[in-house]
Amino acid sequence: MTLRVFVSRDAGAVAVGADEVAQAIAQAAAARGLALDLVRTGSRGLYWLEPMVELATPAGRVAFGPVSPADAGSLLEAMLADGKHPLRLGLAEEIPWLKRQTRLIFARCGVIDPRSLEDYRAHGGYQGLERALSLGAASTLAEVTASGLRGRGGAGFPTGIKWKTVADTAADQKYIVCNADEGDSGTFADRMIMEGDPFVLIEGMTIAALTVGASRGYIYIRSEYPHAVAAMNAAIAAARRGGYLGTRIAGSRHAFDIEVRVGAGAYVCGEETSLLESLEGRRGVVRAKPPLPAHQGLFGKPTVINNVLSFAAVPFILANGGKAYADFGIGRSRGTMPIQLAGNIRHGGLFETAFGITLGELVDDVGGGTFTGRPVRAAQVGGPLGAYFPRALFDTPFDYEAFAARDGLIGHGGIVVFDDSVDMAKQARFAFEFCAIESCGKCTPCRIGSTRGAETIDKILRGERVDNHLALVEDLCNTMKLGSLCALGGFTPYPVMSALKHFPEDFKPQHLQAAE
Ligand SMILES: Cc1cc2nc3c(=O)[nH]c(=O)nc-3n(C[C@H](O)[C@H](O)[C@H](O)COP(=O)(O)O)c2cc1C
Ligand code: SF4
Repeated sequence: MTLRVFVSRDAGAVAVGADEVAQAIAQAAAARGLALDLVRTGSRGLYWLEPMVELATPAGRVAFGPVSPADAGSLLEAMLADGKHPLRLGLAEEIPWLKRQTRLIFARCGVIDPRSLEDYRAHGGYQGLERALSLGAASTLAEVTASGLRGRGGAGFPTGIKWKTVADTAADQKYIVCNADEGDSGTFADRMIMEGDPFVLIEGMTIAALTVGASRGYIYIRSEYPHAVAAMNAAIAAARRGGYLGTRIAGSRHAFDIEVRVGAGAYVCGEETSLLESLEGRRGVVRAKPPLPAHQGLFGKPTVINNVLSFAAVPFILANGGKAYADFGIGRSRGTMPIQLAGNIRHGGLFETAFGITLGELVDDVGGGTFTGRPVRAAQVGGPLGAYFPRALFDTPFDYEAFAARDGLIGHGGIVVFDDSVDMAKQARFAFEFCAIESCGKCTPCRIGSTRGAETIDKILRGERVDNHLALVEDLCNTMKLGSLCALGGFTPYPVMSALKHFPEDFKPQHLQAAE
């Protein structure tokens, strides 16, 4: 009998010992003379249970976790016997945290071997591309538009409109660029999908290429993601070998190929025009718009630039129809969002669900409150430029417009949780400081305002003319909001002003706080 065992090779799992666990299992099996088929997958995204080990059984995969190398022997014995083990979690798909999700993008992540094109195809992969090829460009675009998909990189711009603009722009060369810079604090969904199901991104980009008439694609991955770079390069090579990239993709008359480019580590290189500068070999400085990248993007040619998750949603949309995707969600936020729970949280990980779930459900119920066990005080949603929400706003549904109505944003879907020991004045100062460090320097409100903002908060905390300086911070925030060229300077006011508005008690001068 051969035991088929699955261990994640996702960077998050590897960081907590998945490689050592896989090695220990292989050694324990060899010592017992057992035949073992050890498959390295992506992560299911239940990070507090990593390293998670799964065993294929006739009833489905049985999960164990978190496993340490010392557990390998007893785990194998249990797998050979009745499967009972103190670390047994039951059938993986029945774990409530996983079961209550709606995994459209992440359906295969943690399930398949990310290096195997055959496994991808066996789990529904490339059905979207096949349908796109049979529909043709115009009807493919209609499906993407009907899905209501909006960009998952942060701005939430309708993907169908962006693709139509590129499709309608005549040019001898067009490009597809995938933004995998994933710089937002508390986010890891792009990394997970690239490591756990890289072909879904390749398929999504290929469908985009067919739709707009592009023949070359680039994936811009941040340098901090070496596992994702390796996974994407391996998958691209496999897709080429399998005829899914190259001169005649899937036997059609269309040519499309993809290359990976590694960033040099700047938050602003996630901003699309700055990313294009970087891809062209220059320093990552924001370009003024217009022209839009859809008209003049990479090397001055019409370019579709989308986030990893936006492209990764497209194969489902094509395989199942735009309506099937749009059936999930609320208001103008259609489909699902891979939400990333991070920071001081008990159950951190990847939770893909339809739009509409409230922030409170996510933090308290799904996330299980704080890791420290202390009360939750705030959650920052949408990365370093997102607002801090207090408990009073935890009834906000996950929806682009609902968050905007409360001066927040959902951005790339990252939620960072803080307990009651957080100092919100420090967080506000950090927002300015982060902006000062990461600013590309092109425009004055951001380049100068961020530094002046941090200094002004210091003055408030030292008790220097507090009311005047509070008014000055507000004034400065308005200037940055209205006068910055891009959202780095333009959105830094959100974390600052939300901290001031919802947690004013933290902005009292330090000597008064100490006296209380
Ligand atoms: C400072 C800054 C950083 C950004 N970082 C990212 C990023 O890491 N990944 C991303 O997809 N979009 C990022 N964006 C948004 C991109 O500019 C752009 O809107 C996005 O790539 C478009 O793809 P989408 O429509 O699929 O969201 C950033 C924007 C700004 C202003
Ligand atoms: S807001 Fe900041 S990052 Fe954006 S263009 Fe201006 S200086 Fe550059």
